[in-house]
Amino acid sequence: MRTSLPLVVDRTAGIPLHLQLAEQVRAAIRDGRIQAGHRLPSTRDLSREVEVSRAVAQAAYDQLHAEGWITGRTGSGTYVADVVPLPPAAVQRARPRQEPEPDLLTLRPGIPFIARTPDPGWRRAWREVSAQTPPRGYADPAGLPALRAALAEHVGRVRGIACGPENLVITNGTVHGLRLQLATTLAAGDLIAMEDPGYVNAAKAARSHGLEVVDVPVDADGLRVDSLGDDLAAVYVTPSHQYPLGGRLPVARRNELIRWARRTGATLIEDDYDSEFRYDVAPLPALAQLDLDRVVHLGTLSKMLSPSLRLGWMVASTAVVDRIADHREDASDWPAWPMQAALLAMLRDGYLDQLVRRSSRLYAERRNLTCRLLAPYGEVVGQDAGLHITLLLPDHVDDQVLAAKARAAGVAVAPLADYRRSIPGPPGLVIGYATPSDEDLVTALEILAGLLS
Ligand SMILES: Cc1ncc(COP(=O)(O)O)c(C=O)c1O
Repeated sequence: MRTSLPLVVDRTAGIPLHLQLAEQVRAAIRDGRIQAGHRLPSTRDLSREVEVSRAVAQAAYDQLHAEGWITGRTGSGTYVADVVPLPPAAVQRARPRQEPEPDLLTLRPGIPFIARTPDPGWRRAWREVSAQTPPRGYADPAGLPALRAALAEHVGRVRGIACGPENLVITNGTVHGLRLQLATTLAAGDLIAMEDPGYVNAAKAARSHGLEVVDVPVDADGLRVDSLGDDLAAVYVTPSHQYPLGGRLPVARRNELIRWARRTGATLIEDDYDSEFRYDVAPLPALAQLDLDRVVHLGTLSKMLSPSLRLGWMVASTAVVDRIADHREDASDWPAWPMQAALLAMLRDGYLDQLVRRSSRLYAERRNLTCRLLAPYGEVVGQDAGLHITLLLPDHVDDQVLAAKARAAGVAVAPLADYRRSIPGPPGLVIGYATPSDEDLVTALEILAGLLS
């Protein structure tokens, strides 16, 4: 049976006529108006009916033929192919990744202050990048050699780690560095010790690699090294500013930790997320400075510039660096060249140092304000460094209920309970003072003080 279809072309549509015809035939087959085996008009008839040239009709059939919608050859007729139409797929609705918080003043920890207008140092770096062409081919999977050299100098100067570019891997931030280390040196079922309370994303990363997380208590000085068992494969630790309680691991405990790792063969993963910001005395040199054979050190741009840049670095033994470079070669997951090139420009230009000095002055004032306004309501801890303080509250307070009340009053703040896993401790609020504007910070702290009183 020869099927007559109501085909039309629109010469003003800006879409080639043969593609318009092909799409109408395709749609008719898809929704069952014409079915397998039905005969289509010859190109001569089609061109006459639709008033297009024969070449256009032929091009439409060629397209449909190439896609498998029709069969047949010139002279023997053109037929709808045996294509069983697919029922339409269920409509996928995207789940919002994060609840939008447009009207909330945020005191959530971890995000630095980002000015609304870009400053000259930032612009200079990107101008420098835009004046270059990208490297030919795939870059070094450990990271740009020049950036690794500049970072080796940087961590030597500011964190006391004696190392060279061969000890550096450029990462997409701390958690990425942690995941690279877990993927290349640990096996499912291995035990990894983590501070409790501690960084939630680190524990999630470990679990998603099949590791068993062993909760280790912390005190005012940080990780309780005397609680580590001998069956651990690794320890994840925040020695410069325990997250979130703020302890600084003293020298004696650092030495004890290194001695323990040398004896047991475990790897220490040092998360050095906010050591740049220290308000009392200079930070202690990094743990990695004591023994690069036992410590993998993770640094990040997230607190200095912005977490959205997704850039960080790992300092480790050459054996670890080589293993990770091999792994990345297979996975193709190293940071994009422009971001690496921009960080290199910022380091060479002194912009990063300047930014840290400037932000430290701002954060020191905000920290003073935060401590002053909140000290009457609890015990402030962790105030000597970083971008947050923790306010420990009386035992009868439910910090999650308090955070929900703060939210209802327009302030986003993190309850300490969210950082705890199995080890009990006092309730509290983890309060980041870096993100809001000066005015918003005052407003948010006053709202919080009102709730606490
Ligand atoms: C303890 C800790 N480590 C690291 C980071 C930063 O992670 P990343 O470098 O992946 O952005 C954060 C951010 O909040 C943190 O709290």
